Amino acid sequence: MTDVSAAAAGQAASLTVRDNRTGTEYDLPIVDGTIKAADLGKIRTADDEPGLAVYDPGFVNTASCRSAVTYIDGEKGILEYRGYPIEQLAEKSNFLEVAYLLIHGELPTKAEYEAWVHEITYHTFVHENVKGFMHGFRYDAHPMGMLMASVGALSTFYPDARNIDDPDNRHMQIVRMIAKMPTLGAWAFRHAQGKPFIYPDNELSYTENFLSMLFRMSEQKFAADPRLAKALDVLLILHADHEQNCSTNAVRSVGSSQVDPYSAVAAGIGALYGPLHGGANEAVLRMLKRIGTKENIPAFIEGVKNGNERLMGFGHRVYKNYDPRAKLIKKACDDVFEVTGVNPLLEIAQELEKIALEDEYFVKRKLYPNVDFYSGLIYEALQFPPEMFTVLFAIGRTPGWLAQWNELIQDKEQKIARPKQIYTGDRTLTFVPAEERWA
Ligand code: ACO
Repeated sequence: MTDVSAAAAGQAASLTVRDNRTGTEYDLPIVDGTIKAADLGKIRTADDEPGLAVYDPGFVNTASCRSAVTYIDGEKGILEYRGYPIEQLAEKSNFLEVAYLLIHGELPTKAEYEAWVHEITYHTFVHENVKGFMHGFRYDAHPMGMLMASVGALSTFYPDARNIDDPDNRHMQIVRMIAKMPTLGAWAFRHAQGKPFIYPDNELSYTENFLSMLFRMSEQKFAADPRLAKALDVLLILHADHEQNCSTNAVRSVGSSQVDPYSAVAAGIGALYGPLHGGANEAVLRMLKRIGTKENIPAFIEGVKNGNERLMGFGHRVYKNYDPRAKLIKKACDDVFEVTGVNPLLEIAQELEKIALEDEYFVKRKLYPNVDFYSGLIYEALQFPPEMFTVLFAIGRTPGWLAQWNELIQDKEQKIARPKQIYTGDRTLTFVPAEERWA
């Protein structure tokens, strides 16, 4: 019985636990479908013994916060930002409006929207010294490493960012970070290509300006194809938040120490960099290239089923159904390929998806395409090298990280993140100095 139906039946919403070591029974309140881990801590065999704890590697069944930012129903494939379905936002909104929604909790009025766009647009420039240290990276530096380092370094340019209890100050850093992320991402890209850095163009929209900083050469003004700019904008919306995923958890965990938001977001970028998280789209593309032709798919699938490797872009901790973002990205593929011509790897991806969705191994484990399965194909069509894919993800995710960070800072229930452990090592050994051990 859920706590709601228990309440309706006039029963207390609680869980009775009997500790068979002592025979004691405990009533633990159930609130919002959860019990408090701290309540379990009251269960102990003696006053001087440690209380019962929860062992949950990877936090597969632990709620770490209350949040009103993003709702996901993984079984039904539902994703909503602040209550609005992702499908409607992707179709009818734009990235900066969605960023406003995530940060402020509601849609802007016309005046609020215009002020927000103005603020973001006029904070896109970075301090000239940023150029200097970006040049200092090696020619083959991964752009995610450069982004992580440069976002972390912004904390040194804005030391006031540590005043996290001041709402106006938090707003300023949020605007700065959303505004500057495309500048840093584009410069990381240009560095790898040995091309000059392009300054922001404040007459362009957020996405057009990003494309300009990435691709402009000698032309006076960069004119992006509006269909490509729109597709990129949709991709940014789809990536904007995803509740307590690995990188958001990193932002919250580091942010819980009350450090400035640049340092917290740099930690999120580090988490996103990994191949099981945002790095998956890069891995998908490499996988598709390695498979090469449709004929090689059955052998590849056999290898996956034998545990030799994973089918990248498939599976999700939360979605046990088709990832709604993957559906929307598949649609965006058509718009992009209309401009750029079809990416030959699309055929392999579609065939791979078809085979996997019919195969018992994937069906039984509820493994469906996730957001990363098709996004890499679009990014490649837009001329991005695979190393840049996760940078695009990070730019899209920035409003989500900041909305979650802003919520964390104002949440009176939050404490510094500090999990317990189950210690498995030796104890009370006697140290013998090296000279004696090696004698
Ligand atoms: N290919 C083959 N088998 C898989 C895959 C996959 N992509 N994903 C999960 N499985 C299998 C596991 O081997 C396991 O099988 P078993 O029960 O026989 O041991 C079962 O499905 C459950 O897998 P877990 O690893 O326990 O699932 P978890 O929730 O921990 O992992 C994850 C989720 C990391 C996303 C996983 O599905 C995966 O590695 N996918 C590939 C990488 C990827 O696409 N990541 C992007 C995720 S979306 C994002 O971060 C934006």
